[in-house]
Amino acid sequence: MHIIRRFYDLKRLINKKAKLSPDLLVGFVPTMGALHDGHISLLKESTKECDLSICSIFVNPTQFGESRDLKRYPKPIEKDIELLIQNKCDILFLPSVEEVYPKTYTQQEFDLNGLETVFEGKSRVGHFQGVCNVIYRFFDQIKPNKAYFGQKDFQQTVVVKKLVEITGLKTAICVVPIKREPNGLAMSSRNARLTANGKKDASFICHALMLIKNNLKSFGVDKSVEMAKQHISKFQNAKLDYLIVAETKTLKETKQHKDQKIIALVALDYEGVRLLDNMILN
Ligand code: PAF
Repeated sequence: MHIIRRFYDLKRLINKKAKLSPDLLVGFVPTMGALHDGHISLLKESTKECDLSICSIFVNPTQFGESRDLKRYPKPIEKDIELLIQNKCDILFLPSVEEVYPKTYTQQEFDLNGLETVFEGKSRVGHFQGVCNVIYRFFDQIKPNKAYFGQKDFQQTVVVKKLVEITGLKTAICVVPIKREPNGLAMSSRNARLTANGKKDASFICHALMLIKNNLKSFGVDKSVEMAKQHISKFQNAKLDYLIVAETKTLKETKQHKDQKIIALVALDYEGVRLLDNMILN
């Protein structure tokens, strides 16, 4: 695996490979490190579908509201490198903050049609603009044919698809299903901050989403969401931020479950850790 820290060197290497095979398909997996099976499932999709798989590890400062959150973000780089090698990553892109955001760089404000201000965007103001700045920078420089994102951060996938649409970038966005622990807890780097018992009990989040999915046809959206909220309220350490049903494309909240594809999205604080999950309902 090549480890590259500069866009210039990365582009040179991609060009060299493209000269040898002109139809080269380049897959890109952007991450912030602390890799787990969820990330690896993205890489596996890339290696299955593409000729060259690039993974980036960059803890993007512009998507963190509080610098405290940024500072305590885990950085197990040696372990990450090992995992990437084992899983056939061709190139690890490991840029510095100065490389991604040189002094001359000014943050862009993308017109995302309000997709960035609901749900996660409400609790984490500016977060998705930060994500879009780093993704735009990466896509614009690397020009991957495909990029892989986890369904776990569903709103992020909708926002990034919008970014690609409005900027005319040519990268196809591939969404890979959520990887879950055996008890149903959605995999996330943040799970490492839960206690062992907390990790076990946090299966209630996925169970709440299943309650919605299983009861939707008989009881409709409102009633099944209510059942799920009641289930969550049994867990005293859980502080619900939102649990809603929305259209997958527009993220508009809906009570309809027949005409369009819908998803249940949940965010809550558990043992002081913000956890997200979602489930496509139809
Ligand atoms: O999902 C993430 O880890 C980050 O938001 C991403 C896509 C790597 C951008 O920094």
